[in-house]
Formats: sequence, structure tokens, C-alpha cells
Amino acid sequence: MNKSKFKAKRILVTSALPYSNGPIHLGHLVEYIQTDIFVRFLRLIGEDVLFVCADDTHGAPIEIKAAELGIKPEQLIANVYKEHVKDFKDFLISFDNYYTTNSPENKHYSDLIFGRLKEKGYIYTKDIEVTYCGHCRRTLPDRYVKGKCPKCKAPDQYGDVCENCNAAYKTIDLIDPYCAICKNKPIRKISKHYFFRLSKFSKKLESWLKKNKNLQQEIKNFVFNWIKNGLEDWNISRDGPYFGFKIPGEEDKYYYVWLDAPIGYIASTDNYCKKKGLKTEDYWNSKDARIYHFIGKDIIYFHFLFWPAMLIGSGFSLPYHILVHGFLTLNGEKMSKSRGTFFTAREFLQKNNAEHLRFYYAGLLSGRMSDIDLSFDDFGKKINNELAANIGNFCYRVLNFLNRYFDGEVKDVDNNKTLINEIKKLTKNIEKSYYGLNFNEALKGILHISSLGNKCFQENEPWKLIEKDREKVHKILGLCVNIVKNLSILIKPILPDFSLKLQKQLNLQNQKWSNINFELKNHKIGKDEILIKKIEEKKEIKQSNASELPASLRAGSQTSRSETCSHVTFPLNLKVAKIIDIKEHPNAEKLYILDIDLGAEKRQLVAGLKPYYKEEELKSKKIIVVTNLKYAKLRGVESQGMLLAGDDGRNVGVLTAEHSNPGDKVYLEGFENSNKELSFDEFLKISITVKNSKAYFENKELKTDKEIVRAERVKDGARVR
Ligand code: MSP
Ligand code: ZN
Repeated sequence: MNKSKFKAKRILVTSALPYSNGPIHLGHLVEYIQTDIFVRFLRLIGEDVLFVCADDTHGAPIEIKAAELGIKPEQLIANVYKEHVKDFKDFLISFDNYYTTNSPENKHYSDLIFGRLKEKGYIYTKDIEVTYCGHCRRTLPDRYVKGKCPKCKAPDQYGDVCENCNAAYKTIDLIDPYCAICKNKPIRKISKHYFFRLSKFSKKLESWLKKNKNLQQEIKNFVFNWIKNGLEDWNISRDGPYFGFKIPGEEDKYYYVWLDAPIGYIASTDNYCKKKGLKTEDYWNSKDARIYHFIGKDIIYFHFLFWPAMLIGSGFSLPYHILVHGFLTLNGEKMSKSRGTFFTAREFLQKNNAEHLRFYYAGLLSGRMSDIDLSFDDFGKKINNELAANIGNFCYRVLNFLNRYFDGEVKDVDNNKTLINEIKKLTKNIEKSYYGLNFNEALKGILHISSLGNKCFQENEPWKLIEKDREKVHKILGLCVNIVKNLSILIKPILPDFSLKLQKQLNLQNQKWSNINFELKNHKIGKDEILIKKIEEKKEIKQSNASELPASLRAGSQTSRSETCSHVTFPLNLKVAKIIDIKEHPNAEKLYILDIDLGAEKRQLVAGLKPYYKEEELKSKKIIVVTNLKYAKLRGVESQGMLLAGDDGRNVGVLTAEHSNPGDKVYLEGFENSNKELSFDEFLKISITVKNSKAYFENKELKTDKEIVRAERVKDGARVR
């Protein structure tokens, strides 16, 4: 893709919509940073571009998680939305509009598209067998029913695919199925569902893929194969309870989240257009617009088959490009919470600079689908050798020298034709690489220019030459300042903040791509300052892995335990508490309200123990309470902490310390209890399990100074919550 092919009047760019059920992590950022670099480049060069995205808020996991937390899904997605927006802002992702799929616009377009497809006969209903849990009183989605794989008989497999043999099947095919929520055996039920006739689109999809020259060939090949093997119709409805949009005319059926999620691209565009007095059709129904989707390789099927088929069937424009990227690995391995190699965006920022990640990722992104690896060693090296020692150093020494010897005045530019021409040529290539989504190549070009600048400065030895030929030195500095200016523009898509600060030092503002030239003369620059400092190699990313924090997230991390045992913080502040009074919750049948004595203070807890304990069984019991949890309202009653209990799927049993006193500390040998306030989400990431009626965290048992904590009633393997 080069400039000449770029004659679109308008460009719409999207990143995939992140789910509302968790934080943004370093894997997600591969995509958002990649998209942002592209968008910033297009803006810089003067294209008319709009960058939209949204939270993907619907689906069973969100409904179930909210129920577990005792809050409404709307509350859950609102909390996550705030976090996502902050994360994106701090990583300098410059969305023009960041919206939500739980919006009136999205409902409108979902109904519109569903309606059009139905009218054209692309949607029909059919009774199918589903898996239903009588205990939880709900149909179980794929991921909430487990059992033996029908093909290879591996135990504990999810209801859609076997992780052992990769076989795909239906939930009802599982052998000895059980509900992942309550562990009970589900039953089969007949339920009416809506199906989209994907099979009818095979020909049209194939011809679109063939015609579209931008799509990556490796992906097309995949998709052609899928088409060749026959496309199955797609179930686009889900039974309640579900968080989503109700299907028109239905009481308890909803659009499957993957129906309304991509429509969220249109809805976010629409929301923006309304605010700005623009027309949504100019993006979604216009030959003058080009739509770019950026996605990860795990959602190809949805974006190359379902989505274009829906667009064709309902009369919207097809994407001009769908750029598929690979997955992030950390030090060559899949990110893993249990290995301590899972980093949220927030954790990364505790110790690191967002632009360092942008720089590092840019160096790995080539517009291909291969996975990319964040290696801790390499990260430090790249930041220090390329960013700091090359670009950062060149810019600083030039501006510093000019300020020191010439009072910051640029007069004339040394007419070094060879150098200028070489830089012009490199600039053309960088432009082409940015357009072609090959940021690795663009960055190489930028580093090359910076090296040429460094070389020019170094070889002329201005600190010596200034004694003999001051005028010549002044000209060379003029040339170097122009190179610095050009670099500040060339690197802006990748390092927008660095670019801004550098241009401020140059006493320039908002330089466009067209300002890349050697014409800056008779100009006074501003104060110079070191913008990029070297980082401690190797340690930089790992550090946050161990001692200090993200304590809650290092739970289960092998390295943190063995390396820095005595400093490790255990994220929970646990104390013994005595139950002094018990009341029934006024509007929740499973909840008790407990008054507890914590020695120095009294608090109230809300706990879901009613199905498991009679009031008299709890009275006066000495339980274990998390005291540093954010207070939460459960069905309208405040809970000022949380008691710990084991859950083995059948029984729930509280943790107790009968021989200790209220207020006694509960701890793990070698761990420091943290006092930092903990959110419920963070709490959920901590894995404590029961063995022999004791509660273990990282192979250490919970105890007080007087005894080892006991877990009542539950079997080995029970999870403590
Ligand atoms: N909600 C869907 C997308 C709906 S788009 C209409 C979804 N959400 S997600 O939060 O799981 O992922 C969002 C994007 O991040 C996806 O494109 C996904 O491929 C990408 N990534 C998620 N984890 C990733 C890595 N570990 N590495 C690279 N990209 C990753 O899918
Ligand atoms: Zn159940």
C-alpha cells in the first residue's frame, strides 16, 4: 500500500472492542498501540481519519461475574469502562470516540441489522437441545459446563472445545457433564434459537476475499479453507439470564454477544457523528470511505465470515482492510497468571514508561500475523541502545551544543547534499512503511536517520572545530537541528509525548509530515533537556514481578516466592473475628448479615452462607476476615469486609481459628500482610485452596500465632473465597 493508492476521502479505523470483564493487559496493548500508531501517522500526513472503539459489554461471563459480585451488570461495566479509559489514556491511545456496546445506538443498529436479515430470509428459528443447570436455574453457556471430552475422554474440558485434542463439539456432547458454577449435573432442555444462514454467503464471501487485495494472504488461505469445508449456520441467540439486548418479540432471549459486538463499530461511529454533525452513512455506506479493522488472530472467524456476511446481508460497506496481528508472548512463553508473567497495563506503568512499550512494540510490528515476544532482556537493550543512546542522545547533544555555543540561534544550514538526499530517501521509505503497517521497518529507517545525524555531529568534532571555524560549526549545527526536527515528526506516531516535548525544546509546535525538510533557519530554539534516560537493564520489567507489588497479582508466582521470600507481601490483611450476631438479609434469600468483633473494632459483613449454615451454627464462631477489602453493598446492605470460606462445589465451609482471639493476625510464614485496599477483582485473583482441612497459599498454610487455621466441611481442592 503506498500513498498513490490512498485516495479515500475518509478513513475509519477500529480496534477490536475489549471485553468489560477484566483489565487491559500487555497483550491487548499490542493491538491498541499498533492501531494508534497507524492512526496517528494518518493524521500527521493529513488523511481524514476517524478512530473509534468501545467496551464489549455483553455476554454470559459479565452477567455471571456481576451476580457473583452482587452488583448489577451495568455497575460492573461502568466500573470497568472507567479503568479501560484511563489505561488507554495513559498509553496515549488516541481514540476519537471510545464508547460502549450497551448503548441506544448499538441497540438501534442491532435491531436494524437483525430486522433486515430476517426480512430477507437470512434468519430462521430452530429448536435445539441445550444444557441446563436446575440448581443454578440457568442454561449453561459453553464455558460454564465441563465434562469429559466426547472424542479423547480427557476430563474437565469446556463445553465447546477440548484443550487436549482440539476437538470441537456441543455442550450436550460432553460425557458426565457438570455445571462449572455449582458442580451439579445439568440436564438437557429444548429451547428455540435463532440462526443466521451463514451458509448462504459462501460465494459472496469468497468473491469479496478474492477481490480484496489488502487482506493478508496467509489469512485468506485459512478462510478459503473454512469456506471450502462448508460453513455452518450460526446460532445468534442466547437464553436468559443473559446480559445483552433482548430479541424483538421475545421474553427471555437475547442477541448473542458476537452479534451486537461488531455492530458496536457502527454504533460508536454513529455516536461520534451525532456529536460532530457528521453522517454515519459517510463511513458505512460510502464508496469514498475506507474501513480498517485491527484484530488479533483469535477472532478471525468472526471478522472474516460472520461480520462481512452480516454487512452484505444488511447493506453496509465491507471493510477495506482487516489487519490481523499475532499474540504476545512474554520471554517466549504464553502470558500466565500462575507463572507470574501476566501484566496488566496498570501494573506495567507502576515501574515503566508507556512510551517505552510503544517503542518496543513498534519495533516488533511488521503487519504480519506471527506472534510477537516481549523479552525482558531485549526490552532493556532496545530502550537503552536504540531509544536512549541513539535518538535521545543525538537530539540532546545537538540542542545542548547549540544553546551553549550559539545561544540557541539557528542561522544557516550546511548544504551537505549527500546526507540530505540520503535522509530524504529514507523518509520516503518510512512513509511507505507506515502506510504499509510495517512499523518495524519505519522505525529502522528512523534509527538510521538518527545514526546519520550522530555520525555527522561526531565526525565534524564541533567541540574542536569551533576554535578554528565557528561559522562552519554553526551551519553544521543548523543541519543537525533540522534532522532533530525531522526526527520529532517521523517518530511522532510511535512516541507522541516525546515528540511533543522535543518540539517544545525546538520552540516549534504541531509539525506535520509536510514539515519534514531542511528549511528551519533563523530560528531560536528553547531550553534543552534530557528526555530519555537509560533504564536498568533486565530488572526493569521484572522488578514489579517480585517484591513490591502488584502483590495481589503475583499470587501463585513461583519466582516471587523463591527469590524474595522475606519481602513478599501477601495481599490480604486477615484477622480473626468472632460472630456476635446474625440477621437475615431483608432482600436476598441466600445472604446473612453478620455482626463481628475484630478486637479493636466491630464491623458488619454480608455473607452467602444461608444455604449452608443455620444461624445457631454460626453464632460465636471465630472466623477469618479480609479487612482490607473495599467496602461493598450487597443487595443494598454494606459489607465491611469478607469472611473466608472454602467451596468444593458441593459444600461451603468457613475457615475458623477457635483457639485465637478476635483481632489476632492471620498470616503466612514469610509473607508480610498488606494493608493496601483491595478491590474485589484483585481479591478474586488470589488463589487459596484447601488440603487436609487447612488453607494453603503458595504451599504455605494460613495460621495465627496460636494455631493453624481450619477449613470446615469441605474436601481437598476446595477454593477459598
Ligand atoms: N470482545 C472481543 C472483540 C469484539 S470485536 C467486535 C474480544 N475482546 S478481548 O478483550 O478478548 O480482546 C480484544 C483484542 O485484543 C482482540 O483483538 C484480541 O485478539 C487482542 N488480544 C487479547 N489478548 C492478546 C494477546 N495476548 N496478544 C495479542 N493480542 C491479544 O476478543
Ligand atoms: Zn449450577
